[in-house]
This record gives sequence, structure tokens and C-alpha cells, in this order.
Amino acid sequence: MPVRELQVELGARRYPIRIGRGLLDDATGLAAFVPGRHALIVSDRNVAPLYLAQVEAALKGKTVKSLVLPAGEQEKTLARFGDVMAALAALDASRDATVVALGGGVVGDLAGFAAACWMRGVRFVQLPTTLLAMVDSSVGGKTAVDLPQGKNLVGAFHQPAAVLADTATLDTLPDRELRAGLAEVVKYGAIADAGFFEWLENKADALLDRDADALAEAIAVSCAHKAGIVARDETEQGERMLLNFGHTFGHAIETEQGYGGLLHGEAIAVGMVLAARLSSDLGRAPWADTARLAALLERLGLPVALPAGLSGDALLARMRLDKKAVSGSLRLILWSGLGRAEVVTDVPDLEIRAVLDA
Ligand code: NAD
Ligand code: GLY
Repeated sequence: MPVRELQVELGARRYPIRIGRGLLDDATGLAAFVPGRHALIVSDRNVAPLYLAQVEAALKGKTVKSLVLPAGEQEKTLARFGDVMAALAALDASRDATVVALGGGVVGDLAGFAAACWMRGVRFVQLPTTLLAMVDSSVGGKTAVDLPQGKNLVGAFHQPAAVLADTATLDTLPDRELRAGLAEVVKYGAIADAGFFEWLENKADALLDRDADALAEAIAVSCAHKAGIVARDETEQGERMLLNFGHTFGHAIETEQGYGGLLHGEAIAVGMVLAARLSSDLGRAPWADTARLAALLERLGLPVALPAGLSGDALLARMRLDKKAVSGSLRLILWSGLGRAEVVTDVPDLEIRAVLDA
């Protein structure tokens, strides 16, 4: 299967997204994005045993260190950020150093934030190994760590020099993680592309069976949407907010569960259904579209209802700390139906509570 390449265009700046099997075996292709002498590879304990040796081999001849962290959302912390800083210091990394993120969104967000901060910003390269990271987190330059008070509260916009998505790495991705990534794929259809949503309805079984063509197509379409939106609104002044469909609810769930409950993609699946339901409750969107969204997510093996034991009051309080809120007033991403998301600021608390309590 040929390698697909897209560009993220940011005015005078641009970087490639490459999608294909075997990209981690292409030492020259990888090393081309690591021009300086020093490189720090950041990975986690699940991914490193599988793929770190390939990346280290590709960077042979440079001064390279690898930092392998425990896996999972609970590790996307300021303390782990400190570990990456310490590893860069131990490497004697200079301004021409490159941070290489090898893993899912947790590693990508954390390593990217470290790259944004080390010496006020060094290069970094994203080597995403989860579906979620390939379709969303590796593209667009949002980097961050979580606080106990909220997701991604400390971070920076810092674009990668390249995103190299080796789809062969998905062969080892657990089914639950694959499904979590599909939630973010569905998001693009829901917010911007009803035709793609319908394609996903038709290809649901192929995607769950890891059909290589279907997965590559889903990744490429998702990345094209993300690249386009980021090109038009790099720092989320407007259109980029739409990518947060389901996220105000989803982040509140993740935070309230102490980052150890639903996976990020699963929380977003629930969040999208809540946002869609709220839209329909408010008379903004047809109930039929909301039902279609829930049905597709369910068919993809994703949760579509709040986990038991979460309090509506607590979730609403978490939602108020969301980064999209302005002057204490919530800004939600709702929709007017398939493919049509919108920013809405004046939703009464009572309506939000009704959806949380339903
Ligand atoms: P993750 O990084 O925790 O990876 C999921 C799990 O899969 C981990 O246990 C990991 O070790 C394992 N894994 C990764 N690749 C594997 C492989 N190829 N084979 C076997 N195991 C593998 O989670 P994620 O879902 O990739 O990312 C979620 C994070 O991304 C969240 O923190 C979320 O906030 C962030 N995110 C960021 C953006 C952004 O724009 N920056 C967008 C969406 C999500
Ligand atoms: N995942 C949301 C964004 O990148 O803007």
C-alpha cells in the first residue's frame, strides 16, 4: 500500500503527515527530520519493547537517549514533564536537539510540551502508535499535561516538524484502544462531514476487523480534516473549537474519574452523545441524527452513557474549568445535525443538568 502524505500549512510554515505501513523501518525518512546532534526519544513501557529499537537504529550516529515512562493517562503529569526535562539536561541537549515522541497521545502531548519548553522550544517529531494519536493528537501542535483539577490545563501550542504514522504499529494495539481511536474518527464525520459519517456506518465492521485499506482511509480523511482546521485556526480562536465536540463533557468525566476510568476516546464518545442529546433537547438538532450518532458509536463498541456513580453537580463544576469557558460562562460545542457543529454560549445550567441526570 502506498504511503499517503498530507501537509499541514501554517502560513509560511508547513509540515508533513505521512501515513503508511513500515515508516519506522525507513531509517533515512525518519532521520531526515532529526537534523541536529542530540535526540531524546520519549516512549512508554508498552510501546518501547515493540518499537523503540527501530527508532534508535534509525538515529544511529547521533547522541541519542531514550526515556521510557510508565503508560497511561495518569502519567501525563507535571512530575513526568520534570522527568523529560531531567533527561534533556542529562543529554546536554542544545537548541538544535529534537524530541521524538514514540507512542500514543499521552506520550505525544507530554513530549511535545517538553519540547515546547526546553530552551524555550526545540524541534519535535511525532511517531504516533495509537489510532487516536494518528487521527488527532499528533497533528496540530496542542501539547499539555493534566492537573488533578482538570485535563490539559498546563500546555502550549508547539507544532511538530513531522508526523510519521506507521500503520503497522496498529497491529499490536489492543482492541479497546483501537475502538477509543475510532471515537475521534467519528467526531470528524459528526462535526464536519456527513458523507464520511455515512462511510463509517458502512465500514464499521471492516474497521473493527482492522481492514488495512479501511483504516488507512479513515486515518487519511481524519488527518485531512484536522490539517485543514488547524491551518485555518492554529490557536483555536474559532473554528478549531469545533474539534472539541464532546470534550467538555468527556474531560469532566475523565477528571472526575481521576484519569483512571474511561479511556480518553471512550469519554469523548459519551461526551459526543451528551452534546448531541443536549442539542436535540434544545431543539437545535433532529433527534434522528442524535440517534444515528449513538448507534454508530455503540456499534463500534464504545460507551454512550455516563458511567455509574458520577454526580451531575460534580461534572458541571468540572465543566466550568474547561479551557473553552470564558469569564466563568460555559462554551459548549453542540450541533445542528450530522456534519454541522457549532459553538454555543448561553445554555442554561438546568438543561445541562437534565442531560447529565437523564
Ligand atoms: P495512550 O497514549 O495512553 O495510549 C493508549 C495505550 O496504548 C497505552 O497503554 C499505550 O502504552 C498503548 N499503546 C500505544 N501504542 C501501542 C501499540 N502500537 N501497541 C500496543 N500498545 C500500544 O492514549 P491515546 O488514546 O493514544 O491518547 C490519549 C491522550 O491524547 C489523552 O491524554 C488526550 O488528552 C490526548 N489528546 C490530545 C490531543 C491533541 O490535540 N494534542 C487530541 C486528542 C487527544
Ligand atoms: N483535539 C482538539 C484539537 O486539536 O484542537
